[in-house]
Amino acid sequence: MTDWTSGYVADLEYSYGYFDELNPLRARLALLNSGFAPPACESACELGFGQGVSVNIHAAATGAQWWGSDFNPAHAAFARELAVASGSGARLVDEAFADFCTRQDLPDFDFIGLHGVWSWVSDQNRSVILDFIRRRLKPGGVVYISYNTLPGHTATVPLRQLLVRHAETMQAPGQALAPRIDAALEFAQRLFEQNPAFLAANPQIGARLERMLKEDRRYLAHEYFNRDWRPMPFGEVAQALGEAKLSFAGSAHHLDHVEVLNLTEGQGAFLRELPDALFRETVRDFMINQQFRRDYFIKGPRRLTALDLREIARRERFILTGRREAIALTATGPAGEVGLRQEIYEPVLDVLSDHRPRTFEEIEHACGAQVRTFAELLEALMVLIGKKDLAPAQSDDVIAKARPAARNLNQRLMASARSDQGIGALASPVTGGGIPVSRFEQLFLLARAQGWSSPADWGAFAWNCLTELDQRVIVGDQVLEGGEENLAELTRQAGAFAEERLAILSATGIA
Ligand SMILES: C[S@@+](CC[C@H](N)C(=O)[O-])C[C@H]1O[C@@H](n2cnc3c(N)ncnc32)[C@H](O)[C@@H]1O
Repeated sequence: MTDWTSGYVADLEYSYGYFDELNPLRARLALLNSGFAPPACESACELGFGQGVSVNIHAAATGAQWWGSDFNPAHAAFARELAVASGSGARLVDEAFADFCTRQDLPDFDFIGLHGVWSWVSDQNRSVILDFIRRRLKPGGVVYISYNTLPGHTATVPLRQLLVRHAETMQAPGQALAPRIDAALEFAQRLFEQNPAFLAANPQIGARLERMLKEDRRYLAHEYFNRDWRPMPFGEVAQALGEAKLSFAGSAHHLDHVEVLNLTEGQGAFLRELPDALFRETVRDFMINQQFRRDYFIKGPRRLTALDLREIARRERFILTGRREAIALTATGPAGEVGLRQEIYEPVLDVLSDHRPRTFEEIEHACGAQVRTFAELLEALMVLIGKKDLAPAQSDDVIAKARPAARNLNQRLMASARSDQGIGALASPVTGGGIPVSRFEQLFLLARAQGWSSPADWGAFAWNCLTELDQRVIVGDQVLEGGEENLAELTRQAGAFAEERLAILSATGIA
């Protein structure tokens, strides 16, 4: 490990995930649902952007000027390559927070996002981040922050300590991190086979270890093997951000806003008795044994009157990103699976089924008497966004401006699908964010962009890409060995893609 890392894992690069919570447009309805005015977003910043997939998608697909920093030079180099390919103008650097946050040439930001960073850095770095937010977030601006929390992670603390100590003390110095992680996990597994009293007192930790054993080692390295790993109770985070003049503005996970998905009736009633909103949030974390929080905070929250709230919400636009026929009328939260009211969701989904962006007001009018109240429609849209069947949409002007950079970025990302880099999203100029697109789907799109017109051609193109790398298609847990079998399966998948996905990818400006 080299010394610029502040104890952060640097010898295994992070994975190429995309996180739509970092899309500022997605914050708007959640903030409105909490009663707050959402800001327009002209300038945004992501701290600790990893491989930079999210920041590049957002920079290419929105009209905002994005900045970002990640001190791992391998991450920053890849992220910058994407920024150049897209032409988005994103300013992405490989500076440590302490250097980046004190730069003199930064603008003030409407949105600052940090995903998977807060719990994994030192107290000193958290202070640097807070100071940056205090100075650089505009009044009315929004912070998106995710972090490991308590009480859900209580038993993980000693397990993580054990794994880290094993990796540090029981293995040959100089050994690479991935095999050290494997050995530490195997040790913990053998320890748990001895039925230690810790396991009996915390039975759920056995399942956590089982899940860890199946995880990508790059994810585990960054999640658990840093010097710093500190789950923080909500109240402590709210207090720290409060000192930077921020107020809690609600969860960034839209399904968290819907009580019936999260709490029993009794739990809901118990919480409603608590007058203090922040304390209520702490108690709610006990109710659901919260492990990981995704929160929005605002600097100077402006609580809207009921009338203003309705007027702003009615101008927001939405597009259906799921296939109408495939959308299940159920949603799942900590309280289990809940059926969604057919009489509300069916008409809303029908109105949106042509995948054209529509305003809240247009949906409301089209549904007529079927959706009786503003609150019912608001909740339905929140749930559909939380289920990832629906996304907020930008204005036509912004969509038109974002198209070229989104197209350039997507070409670069689809090219990397040939070598299976593991990037599972493409940029939508319509939603200002990423849409999940699997590797094979990206290869079909690439074939299409190169002029191949039939699913049979797309399947053959994908099969050529796989044979280059000596790869085979896997169906279930079976590897298809013969060339004909592979080609037939890829052609079948390309056919399904043409029928079920192409219209949505075209409507979202990706195809
Ligand atoms: C767990 S990863 C999350 C990456 C990305 N936000 C995501 O969710 O995919 C944390 C990232 O923060 C970066 N990081 C950690 N400490 C940092 C520091 N002091 N300055 C800049 N970047 C840092 C790491 O290099 C890493 O890429």
